[in-house]
Amino acid sequence: MDIIITDLKARQVLSSRGEPTVEVELTLNKQYKGRAIVPSGASKGKFEAEELKDQDMSLYKGKSVYKVVKGINDEISPFIVGGKYSSLYKLDNKLISLDGTKNKKKYGGNGILGISIAYLKALSELYHLSCFQYIGGINFNHFPLPMMNVINGGAHSNNSLDIQEFMIVPIGAKSIDDAIRYCVEVYYALKEILNERGLSTGVGDEGGFAPNLKNEEEALDLLSEAINNAGYILGVDFKFSLDIASSEWKTKDGYYLPKKKKVMTSKELMDYYLKIVDKYPILSLEDPFDQEDYSSWNSFLLHTKGSVLLVGDDLYTTNVERLKMGIENKLSDAILIKPNQIGTISETLNCINLAKDANMKIIVSHRSGESEDDFISDLAYGVKADYVKFGAPCRSERTTKYNRLLKIEEIIKEQKQ
Ligand code: PGA
Ligand code: ZN
Repeated sequence: MDIIITDLKARQVLSSRGEPTVEVELTLNKQYKGRAIVPSGASKGKFEAEELKDQDMSLYKGKSVYKVVKGINDEISPFIVGGKYSSLYKLDNKLISLDGTKNKKKYGGNGILGISIAYLKALSELYHLSCFQYIGGINFNHFPLPMMNVINGGAHSNNSLDIQEFMIVPIGAKSIDDAIRYCVEVYYALKEILNERGLSTGVGDEGGFAPNLKNEEEALDLLSEAINNAGYILGVDFKFSLDIASSEWKTKDGYYLPKKKKVMTSKELMDYYLKIVDKYPILSLEDPFDQEDYSSWNSFLLHTKGSVLLVGDDLYTTNVERLKMGIENKLSDAILIKPNQIGTISETLNCINLAKDANMKIIVSHRSGESEDDFISDLAYGVKADYVKFGAPCRSERTTKYNRLLKIEEIIKEQKQ
């Protein structure tokens, strides 16, 4: 059977921050449909694919994406509608060559990714498979463990915390259902503690609480207490993960922590991390150093020797070339995967495969600006990711991803019977 793209249409919609983003609808063989909404980051890496915005300050403060939508509807669509595209790689390669720039500057990573995901969803429909099954078949004894970001700081909130994400990881859970329950119960307990102490229970961009606290250790102490109050044991049922997002701090004079108004050297940061890792059960540290501070990454990895996972987010930007450099120079032992950093799903899958060959842990991640699209849950299951990072169990653009994980677990269970 020939697989033909019979329709392709884009429009501007809103992300969870109320900012314009791109929605794409694609149809195969006149009946199989896929729809995708592209996410958007706040603490973006330097090497990410271009997120094209109109920059017209009279509209949405320059953030509208009408040009991307027009590029898809007026230029890409006439070119590919009617064409035979039998695989994702074939379509993505065509989109990459149509764009023709290194960072997808012409049509925008935000435009091209929408087409790539919508096509993959339509293709799964055509084969009468769930998207996760089309990507990786059914894996009975595997589920990705959530890293839930329950306290937000850094660029995701206006509180006093310089570290961007304080995550709880339910290492003792035996299923997704269990894992989500563990985390939600701790989230409730944390809210109670914050209420009792008169601290804010307002949430940040990823649904985590964003109270003003003395320092980062106070956040970890509150989480330890919440885990205990919910009846769990820290170190046995839960560990912590932190996304430092330190590229946001980098200046020519060192690392400037904007909320504490304090400059730190790489060496001081490393000592600080070692102190925290010594005091709390930390599973992983993401972007502990700047995306170009390679020597610090390497010395930290040699020092920690796998006792805590070092996760490259801004460091790699889901880019195979960056990852190759990281593997050669021994920079980290885990990678964060965000499809919109690179702009197509083929390139995302290539990056995941390379990371797996290098024995790195895989964390599939949302962006701080999200939508009701739950594709990344299917991606995480399909590629057998070790972890997922989808924010707090709060705000529908986050819970839709957890709800999809629950649904996938149910589909897998049904297949088993
Ligand atoms: P972003 O943050 O989506 O705002 O870039 C998420 C992260 O740094 O992991
Ligand atoms: Zn990050």
